[in-house]
Formats: sequence, structure tokens, C-alpha cells
Amino acid sequence: MQHRFILGAVLGLLIMPALASASDDIDGKALYAKNCASCHGANGEPTDMGKSLKPFPARNHRAIAKYVGRDELRRIITYGVEGTAMTPKKYALDALEIEAVIDYIQTFDYTPSLANGKARFKAVCISCHGTDGRAQTGVGAKNLVYSKLDLEGIVHTMRYGRAGTLMTSKRHQLSNPDIADIANYVYSLRYLANPASGKTLYAKNCASCHATPRAIKLIGNAAEKRTVADLDDRLLDLRIRHGRHVDRAGEKVAHLTDDNIQDLIAYIRHEVK
Ligand code: HEC
Ligand code: HEC
Ligand code: HEC
Repeated sequence: MQHRFILGAVLGLLIMPALASASDDIDGKALYAKNCASCHGANGEPTDMGKSLKPFPARNHRAIAKYVGRDELRRIITYGVEGTAMTPKKYALDALEIEAVIDYIQTFDYTPSLANGKARFKAVCISCHGTDGRAQTGVGAKNLVYSKLDLEGIVHTMRYGRAGTLMTSKRHQLSNPDIADIANYVYSLRYLANPASGKTLYAKNCASCHATPRAIKLIGNAAEKRTVADLDDRLLDLRIRHGRHVDRAGEKVAHLTDDNIQDLIAYIRHEVK
């Protein structure tokens, strides 16, 4: 056992891609049934015993299978979660067996409920992110409608929070199904910037001074070496709305809404790569 574990760990470090196939012939489902199902349930839904555990109940695997990455699962399974009934499994399972268990967890499926996501978002998130997710509440929360995070990223932010900000971990406040539902709801709020409408806005408000997005020159020290493509969305937004051209372009810029700016940025990105 010990020998296989060390071999597995070495393999894991040296040839990660080979690992997934190396674990193919290990029965992850059987290992899961034997080592995990008493708390997490055979199908990933916690058992009554699992739900009654203190200080924290066993968590639902169905609802995280598609949203929590392999590395994170491996870390939790290998080392456990201190102070909970989730003890380290590295003594019971070797590295390849852990990969096989993860493979099995990743076959679980979950159908998110946007209605529940909306209700839970309202209960837990709007005090900072606002009813519409646009975060105009004055506490420095991020605008979720323009977020670039994928579902996994949204889930990760909810699970662990952002150190040193008001965005604290919600992992013990919310069940995994709630987290999955909220993440899908947040994702559904996303504003889909429209480069075609950006093009129209550009022709009307910008082209009189910058014939095309390529013709925009940046102001400042590094201006010679950089183009608008080097600015992220937030900086570009700031420069369009508050940059030095505003004293001249003021009227053309002042009436633009947040969504207009997103459309403009989408158009500029389309033209300047
Ligand atoms: C004795 C009960 C018990 C057994 C057996 C058990 N777990 Fe857990 N597990 C827990 C508890 C309790 C938690 C919640 C810990 C916490 O709140 O951070 C947990 C959390 C987890 C998590 C993190 C879930 C999340 O949403 O953060 C994973 C992944 C996990 N277990 C996998 C496994 C696997 C795989 C096995 C079998 C190899 C296993 N567990 C066996 C009780 C158990
Ligand atoms: C107490 C205030 C507060 C609450 C409540 C709160 N957040 Fe946040 N959230 C923040 C702050 C502040 C940030 C910005 C953190 C930073 O600077 O990186 C943030 C950032 C985020 C981000 C990252 C967005 C990105 O693009 O980087 C996501 C996703 C998020 N929150 C989702 C949620 C969800 C979902 C809830 C409810 C379950 C929630 N937040 C509840 C304050 C809050
Ligand atoms: C009335 C003329 C005028 C209009 C209209 C105008 N700009 Fe500008 N803009 C300027 C000038 C002048 C500069 C300074 C750089 C230069 O000399 O080209 C500038 C600079 C910029 C910069 C770089 C800012 C910085 O801080 O580095 C961006 C980005 C930009 N404009 C975008 C836009 C967009 C998008 C629009 C339309 C919404 C627009 N501009 C409309 C005149 C204008």
C-alpha cells in the first residue's frame, strides 16, 4: 500500500496526463461505496447520518461535481477538512484510487434551479451586490453582470470568498445545491455585450475624433508602446468615461450608459486585437 502510494505520488508529479488513464482500471464506484457513501450517500446526496454530523454536515457531491475542479477535490479528499468528520483519505486510498474516486464523483449530475438561485441570491447577496447584481450599493462589491468569471470561478468565489474583502466564504452558510443554483442564477444575469450596437455607438460618438478604434492613442508614459488592447475592461471604461479626452469629448461620453460602454468595449476589442 505504502509503496503504491509513493509510486502514485511520483507518477502524479511527473506525468499528470497519464494518471487519468492509469486509474481507468480501478473501480472508483466501488471505492466510493466503501469509503464515502456512508456519509455522502451512494449517489452523492448525503445520508441522514451524514447530514447529522457536527460541526458541519457531509456535503452534497452531485451539486459540486461539475463546478469544483479536480485539483480542489483531490486536495480535500487527500488531506481532509480539519476539525470536521472529513478526515484525510490518504491513509485509506492511494493516489491512483483517489483519482478513480474523483472520476466517479465527476459522473454525478445535477439540474440547477434558477428559481431557488434567485430566492437565495435575494436572501444572501443583494445587500452588497444589489437586486440586479450590478453592485451599486456603495460597499465595493463587484458588478456581477459584467463579471468575466465562468461558473467554476463564481462557485469558487462563493466557496472561499476573497481574503481581505467583504466577500466572505459562503460555504457554511449555503448548501452545495444552493451554491450551484445561485451560481447559475448569477451567470444568467450576465450582460451580453453587443459589438454591433457598439459599432453604431462608436460611429455616433467617437468617430469624429478617432476615425477607428485603431486610431485611438493612449495618453501617458507608456503610451507609445501600448494600445487599447493592453487595457483591461475596467481601465478602458475608466479612460473612456474619465480619461483626459473628457474635457473635449464630454458631451459625447456623458450620456453613455454602463451597458453602452460594455458594447463599445466589445466593438473596440473586435477591431483592435
Ligand atoms: C464520516 C463521514 C464522511 C466520510 C466517510 C467521508 N466524508 Fe467527505 N465530508 C464529510 C463532511 C462532514 C464534510 C464537510 C466538511 C466541511 O464542512 O468542510 C465532507 C466534505 C467532503 C468534500 C468537500 C465538499 C465540499 O462541498 O466542500 C469532499 C470532496 C469529500 N468530502 C469527499 C469525500 C470522499 C471522496 C470520501 C470517500 C473517500 C469522503 N468524503 C468520505 C464527511 C465524510
Ligand atoms: C457583505 C457584502 C457581500 C455579500 C453579502 C456578498 N458579496 Fe460577493 N463580493 C463582495 C465584494 C466586496 C466583492 C469584491 C471582492 C474583490 O475585491 O475581489 C465581491 C465579489 C464577488 C464575486 C467576484 C466577481 C468577479 O468578477 O470578480 C462574486 C462572483 C460574488 N461576489 C458573488 C457573491 C454571491 C453569489 C453572493 C451571495 C451568495 C455574494 N457575493 C455576497 C461583497 C459581498
Ligand atoms: C471631441 C473629440 C473626441 C471624441 C468625440 C472622443 N475622443 Fe477619445 N480622445 C480624444 C483625444 C484628443 C484623446 C487624447 C489622445 C489623442 O490625442 O488621440 C482621446 C483619447 C482617448 C482614449 C485614450 C485615453 C487615455 O486616457 O489614454 C480612449 C480610450 C478614447 N479616447 C476613447 C474614445 C471613445 C470610446 C470615444 C467615443 C465614446 C471617444 N474617445 C470620443 C478626443 C475625442
